[in-house]
Amino acid sequence: MNMAKSRVASESSRRSFLKASSAVAVAGAMTRSARVHAAGSDEIKIALIGCGGRGMSAAVQAIRNAAGARVTLFALADAFRDRVDSAHKIISGQAADRVDVPPERRFVGLDAFQKATDCGVDMVLLCGPPGFRPMQFEAAVAAGKHVFMEKPVATDSPGVRRVMAANQKAKEKGLAVAVGHHLRHEMKHREAIKKIHDGVIGDLQYIRAYFNSSGVWVRARQPGQTEMQYQVQNWYYFNWLSGDHIVEQHVHDLDVGNWMAQAVPVEAQGSGGRQVRIGPDFGEIFDHHTVEFTYANGLKMFSYSRHIPRCWNSFSQHAHGSRGSVHIEGHGHADVRVAGQDPIRIERGPGGHQLEHDHLFAALLAGQPYNEGDYGATSTMTAILGRMATYSGQVIRWDDALNSKIDLCPESLEWDAETKVKPGPDGLYACAMPGTTQVL
Ligand SMILES: NC(=O)c1ccc[n+]([C@@H]2O[C@H](COP(=O)([O-])OP(=O)(O)OC[C@H]3O[C@@H](n4cnc5c(N)ncnc54)[C@H](O)[C@@H]3O)[C@@H](O)[C@H]2O)c1
Repeated sequence: MNMAKSRVASESSRRSFLKASSAVAVAGAMTRSARVHAAGSDEIKIALIGCGGRGMSAAVQAIRNAAGARVTLFALADAFRDRVDSAHKIISGQAADRVDVPPERRFVGLDAFQKATDCGVDMVLLCGPPGFRPMQFEAAVAAGKHVFMEKPVATDSPGVRRVMAANQKAKEKGLAVAVGHHLRHEMKHREAIKKIHDGVIGDLQYIRAYFNSSGVWVRARQPGQTEMQYQVQNWYYFNWLSGDHIVEQHVHDLDVGNWMAQAVPVEAQGSGGRQVRIGPDFGEIFDHHTVEFTYANGLKMFSYSRHIPRCWNSFSQHAHGSRGSVHIEGHGHADVRVAGQDPIRIERGPGGHQLEHDHLFAALLAGQPYNEGDYGATSTMTAILGRMATYSGQVIRWDDALNSKIDLCPESLEWDAETKVKPGPDGLYACAMPGTTQVL
């Protein structure tokens, strides 16, 4: 990072930042951080909650924002001590002069998020397992903090409803809410999808969305761990924590599909299962899902997500219209093909993970409202709808899914508390059985 450049930009933006803060206050949304800034500080103190791979990158990207906001990492929180310590070391190695996290602001445990939220920061970065997101987002909004939260924003319908309600409160309080759908910030997505909305490929006929990969890490059970400690550590493989990979990863593509369609689906049906990833290390999630989503106007989105090695992989989204098609690679470029014309190639441009922070802090400095919580919540709900369809084998309607009372989270979040999902005598966890499993 070019810290010198950042400091210069920061000095030049100081006045506009103060102006922005008073604009927020005038709008009747005098948040704690707005008061801090209006009092003369142009530093934005952030807490990183969830110190894993994505969280560490997000913290550095916030610090390196191109908007010129002077961001300081002020607190760290994680369920586990070693994650906090390694994040402190790694982030300090990349941006030492913007890290001010003495031992007393390195919080550990399942309640660490609350301590980090309350220790004097202006913004929280919620980058832990998505199952904790509704609770941590509610706490941040209640405390008047700006939020960057990773996707997905929940793992079940009660969680999505909590996020929707807290997001409404965040708007009323004038708090910025950013959601980690980085593709929304990439120029090739913005330009290609604008062409769809401008009618360049004619009437939309169907959408295809893919997150096919070989899968992610596995964290083995450690001697002496409680079941809760094990599940939180190996969180990817438990629905209450990850939502299954259709929610945890494929939500990116489903979000783009909804963006292309300018709507959320009214129903879904699909099939899925676990065929390769079946041992005791893999909890309860499926390794493949195929879903047909239907929008109110009859438009279909065909969705494919697979975690199986040595198969065809793709992270991409495609729209097919009456005159042509748009093809977007998640990590690459976009192609726009119109019948009778040369294809248009749109290069990727800068990565969305940095841009999403640039855009967030630019809005904060300009005193503009900033809220990505609405599509963050509906895209997560779309992915949950897909999971409900593959787990049950039934046609599931959006309204029924959103109103589902099935809460996947345990009653108590203590290390020795009982988990709802438990291994059998053979160490295996039961998984959903289409045709039998109830999801509503
Ligand atoms: N936008 C993207 O491209 C992208 C990429 C990767 C991950 N993600 C998202 O980021 C989030 C984190 O993913 P990751 O890959 O960094 O996982 P990770 O496992 O590397 O990090 C998660 C961290 O959260 C900690 N944690 C667990 N429970 C916690 C709690 N109650 N409070 C605080 N911390 C807790 C874990 O110990 C771990 O250190 C997920 O929601 C994931 O979907 C987004």
